[in-house]
Amino acid sequence: MVQNKNNKAVWNTRIKKDTSRIFKKVGSSISVDKRLFKEDIQGSIAHVEMLFKQKIVSFKIKNKIIWGLNKIKNEIIKKKFNFNSNLEDIHINIENRLFEIIGEDAGYIHTGRSRNDQVITDLKLWLRSSTVKILNQLNNLIKIIIKDSEKNVKTIMPGFTHLKNAQPISFAHYLLAYVEMFNRDKKRFQNNLENLSENPLGVAALAGTNFNIDRNYTSKKLKFKNPTNNSIDTVSDRDFVLDFLYSVSVCSIHISRMAEEFIIWNSDAFGLIKLNDKVVTGSSIMPQKKNPDPLEYLRGKTGSSFGNLFSMLTILKGLPLSYFKDLQDDKELVFNSYDQIKNSILILSEILKNFTPNKKRMLELANIGYTTSTDLADYIVISYGLPFRKAYNITSKIVNYAESKKMSLDKLTLEELKKIEPKLNEDILKVFNLKNSIKSKKSYGGTSFENIKKMIKKYKKESK
Ligand code: ARG
Repeated sequence: MVQNKNNKAVWNTRIKKDTSRIFKKVGSSISVDKRLFKEDIQGSIAHVEMLFKQKIVSFKIKNKIIWGLNKIKNEIIKKKFNFNSNLEDIHINIENRLFEIIGEDAGYIHTGRSRNDQVITDLKLWLRSSTVKILNQLNNLIKIIIKDSEKNVKTIMPGFTHLKNAQPISFAHYLLAYVEMFNRDKKRFQNNLENLSENPLGVAALAGTNFNIDRNYTSKKLKFKNPTNNSIDTVSDRDFVLDFLYSVSVCSIHISRMAEEFIIWNSDAFGLIKLNDKVVTGSSIMPQKKNPDPLEYLRGKTGSSFGNLFSMLTILKGLPLSYFKDLQDDKELVFNSYDQIKNSILILSEILKNFTPNKKRMLELANIGYTTSTDLADYIVISYGLPFRKAYNITSKIVNYAESKKMSLDKLTLEELKKIEPKLNEDILKVFNLKNSIKSKKSYGGTSFENIKKMIKKYKKESK
């Protein structure tokens, strides 16, 4: 287990036997938590500065420790550090190396703290900067979607419900729906930053410490707003991990829904978009194939981000307070979800820069399935003051007639329409026009070209 340079566990004064080999191997987390080395050193420096300010360690020892810690940081950055799995985790690896570099004075660094508060301080710091990185990436993704939207305000396609053609929409309006989703994701990650603002350092193992430490001082040093209030809760709490894993999961859902739609639209049957060669792969047997693998990757990876969230929920369910080894798994889940969402946002960004809408096919499909029927019903209500249900019935009759003649609505003549409802006049013919249908969806948030242009302006400003 945790050993010093003589290869003896740091608790060897009491536990006389070496931990069994198999547990030493699987219980070690260094291969995962070495990613926290910068945060671990940052936290240790803040801690020792506080110990000095509180007159718990001398000026000389403080400087020696900080010098040693910075040296270790450089060694790790330059890949000259030998991570030792016998030393369990990043905290003991660094402490052990500090002993090698500065000798027995290294022993002062663990005054008034425990690995239990150390590990969550590290993880909170790591999550804070990683969340900011995700926020930036999401913002870039949004900018790409806005660019695609600007080019497609007048691109008409069918909007679907139940995957049946429903009503004509602008392709830009569809794309901007995803801007809304990714904006919500941004808000969710932003809120998490708020919840990451309490400093766990100094709660020690679970009860606090006998030393006269100043937790407000370390909070300031580490840019936390304030220290946590209850030492037992602090050591046990992984809500901030759940928040992160949940936020990644929701963002993955959004990515996956877009991926799924693009897969459908790129299919030979739909043909609504074409993926450029940069974002497809070939088949080893069928020379003609161009497969949307990157999109499928996005859809697939969503599963592992849900898995990480469920693992953490399960670890916490029924876990007594305060620290237990079960909690060690949190980091692997967090790192995995982070890597996954980072890659997914990048891949989706690439795809959105490398596809072409098939405008002709979109328009063609928007005309299939009587997509302007609702416009016709609305028109009858507005022009003749009929109740909507009555107008709906007249429209149904017209659609039935068109269907029996295998014609689209815009191909019907006024005479034919009048046979069904004598009240109708010539004006009605313009209702079947797809452009007119879109133009008239002026209600706030609707698909009218006018609305879309305003929204694009708003989103552009917000994502600057
Ligand atoms: N490697 C441990 C973890 O990640 C650090 C905390 C260890 N504390 C303990 N009492 N074993 O959870």
